[in-house]
Amino acid sequence: MELIYNLVFTVFPYLCLTTFVVGHGYRYVTDRYNWNARSSEFLEKKSLFYGSVVFHGGIVLTFLGHAGGLLIPQKYFDLAGIDSQSHLAIAYGTGLAVGLAAFIGALLLLRRRLTDPRVQAAGTLNDTITLGGLVFVIGAGLYNVVFGHYNVLDTLAPWIRGIVTFTPQATLMREVPLSYKVHVLSALALLGFSPFSRLVHIWSVPIFYFIRRPIVFRRHPARPSGVSNMPYLKPSGKEG
Ligand code: HEM
Repeated sequence: MELIYNLVFTVFPYLCLTTFVVGHGYRYVTDRYNWNARSSEFLEKKSLFYGSVVFHGGIVLTFLGHAGGLLIPQKYFDLAGIDSQSHLAIAYGTGLAVGLAAFIGALLLLRRRLTDPRVQAAGTLNDTITLGGLVFVIGAGLYNVVFGHYNVLDTLAPWIRGIVTFTPQATLMREVPLSYKVHVLSALALLGFSPFSRLVHIWSVPIFYFIRRPIVFRRHPARPSGVSNMPYLKPSGKEG
């Protein structure tokens, strides 16, 4: 039993996280041309807008909530006057709002990918697996928020801190309910898959866009009427 817990909650997480770090580095160096979100906006705009805005708003806040709530030990929340009951109440309230947004957004994006003929024709199996994986991971997390109500602060949270500080303690996961284990393991698997998918774009947050020097676009200086902007075309529009 001890061995299985070590394999699942120590070896597997490090396998996924190593693939995540090394894979992103390798792909950035070797495949920078394809390092992008593979936007499909030019194929279909309307449902992408709703799905993408709701999904991205929800998922980015969910990430921040996970980082703050799980990686910062409870003793620091206590110092700030937030006891574990209040911490969990805040986590459930905000988790429900942002998790629901991410889940609905991901479902909208998946539906668009499976039903819009143009998006379907240009998309790949990898795109569908990525969105399907997100729906599964977020759905499992949402299930825990709504039905789980398990105190993760003494088990799951110290386990994940042990992983990131290289002091893993797999046995901390023994008491954790199955639905939480499914959420954690599927999220780790998705992190391991990330370098092979369009999820690489997460690391290219366009922060410098806001401080970069403006790019000036100018019209071509006005030409006398009758003179073509495209000299290789005759005024009639036929190629000369
Ligand atoms: C950090 C900030 C992020 C930025 C600036 C960003 C930006 C973008 C952009 C520009 C697109 C292309 C949308 C289009 O087709 O025009 C996109 C698509 C996508 N993003 Fe993000 N993203 C971010 C974070 C994330 C995160 C955290 C996830 C999930 C973990 C994610 C998952 C996706 C997915 C799955 C798509 C594809 C949607 C589809 O076309 O079906 N993004 N993102």
